[in-house]
Amino acid sequence: MLKGRDGWRQRFHLMPPEGWLNDPNGLCQFQGIYHVFFQYSPNEPGPDGRKARTWGHYAGEDLLHLKFCGVPFWPEDPVDRDGCYSGSALVQGEEVMLYYTGNVKQPGDHDYTYSGREANEILVKTDGKTFGFKQTVLVNSDYPKDCTCHVRDPKVWQEGNSLYMVLGARVAGPDRNAQTDYGEALFYRSEDGLHWTLMKTLTTPERFGYMWECPDYFEIDGHKVLGICPQGLEAEEFRYQNIYQAGYWLVDGELEGEQVLHDFTEWDYGFDFYAPQTFVDESGRRLLIGWVGMPDEPYKNPTASLAARSWENCLTVPRELTWENGRIYQNPVPEMKELRYDETHIFPDQEMILPDGAGDFEISFLEGDEEEKWEVVIGDGLTLTYDEGIFRMELTEAVGCGRTIRRLQVPDIQFMRILVDCSVAEIYLNDGELVLTTRFYPAYDKESHDLRVSFRCGNAA
Ligand code: FRU
Repeated sequence: MLKGRDGWRQRFHLMPPEGWLNDPNGLCQFQGIYHVFFQYSPNEPGPDGRKARTWGHYAGEDLLHLKFCGVPFWPEDPVDRDGCYSGSALVQGEEVMLYYTGNVKQPGDHDYTYSGREANEILVKTDGKTFGFKQTVLVNSDYPKDCTCHVRDPKVWQEGNSLYMVLGARVAGPDRNAQTDYGEALFYRSEDGLHWTLMKTLTTPERFGYMWECPDYFEIDGHKVLGICPQGLEAEEFRYQNIYQAGYWLVDGELEGEQVLHDFTEWDYGFDFYAPQTFVDESGRRLLIGWVGMPDEPYKNPTASLAARSWENCLTVPRELTWENGRIYQNPVPEMKELRYDETHIFPDQEMILPDGAGDFEISFLEGDEEEKWEVVIGDGLTLTYDEGIFRMELTEAVGCGRTIRRLQVPDIQFMRILVDCSVAEIYLNDGELVLTTRFYPAYDKESHDLRVSFRCGNAA
């Protein structure tokens, strides 16, 4: 008998104790301790409506046992009174510098895109336990004149003796609307982390959405990468299916010189993935954590209205990034496998049970005709099928809360790893070449939260 836990609360994905969670923030490992901050509204949803957003904090000695440590700072100052928005961490010697955007809405009749909003970039220093005072390092007048009021989400890193910051921005187009405004990345340089100078702006020759949120910049295996979350892309048959996207550009040219962006690739093709951030841990791995959620979607998250304890959203497991075959591969960090406590083998036409709604399993497909068509059904409404080079992830109306299908063209699938965790599934195809993440809401009964998985191959599928 399960007590005191609603069936949709995750077992190994980070989620808010209660309230609302969105973007991962301030990811770092400092003096052996991993820190995962996140966008947090502890009282949302609540009877008193939406509360200004702040940061929540998880920390721990390893990535499998992070503990919730509370709220490091609140949006209670003139520089951030309408929200401590997203940002990042930079480890510098004996301290960590946290940078975030202080969102301020001026009173009056404003649209808050072209007027009335302040975006202050703020620095807070920490030793991981105590948090210093807020220092404002950039304000609206420091951004290029053609920017709208939407400038935010500082990602900060060090190269040589300099510090760099990239910000996401919405630039006003000729008609000052979402059809002509365009997304851009702003690059700043600093020697001390306090004084920042605009170094350059970077965008695509052809307009690519009206806003770029949550930028990230890093090198992997000698390849430069700019991660962004563009808003305003048109959906295509197999791409850009969500309201907003999250992906990365490959970057040619040097950071200090001219750079060209090419080959935008989405990080994840599921219903719920946004605002990812990467960091390098003390063992030198480039790790990524994303928000399992999506802003401004009409679908209502059913966990928001639970009588006992309302909560919304979670983060992906930490994924290790590697460069293979001209793109970035993502896989759950190897230590995730330590959570496995039982080994079951499943063969075609068999079923297995994921006890208490959670499991981490792999399916290898052998070469041969039969394997080119298969179906995996998880619980009572999440179905994965492969047929004639098309991979489908389908949710029933009830289990998906109205979200139904995502399709991908994949010439060959040899291997699939699936992490299922009560109300989230992360599906990794071909050793992390393609990933799909989604929330789903099985109808757990009171007695048992077990999930049944079935696997059928060939014509039986
Ligand atoms: C992305 C985002 C960020 C912003 C934060 C506010 O989901 O809109 O651009 O900083 O969320 O919570």
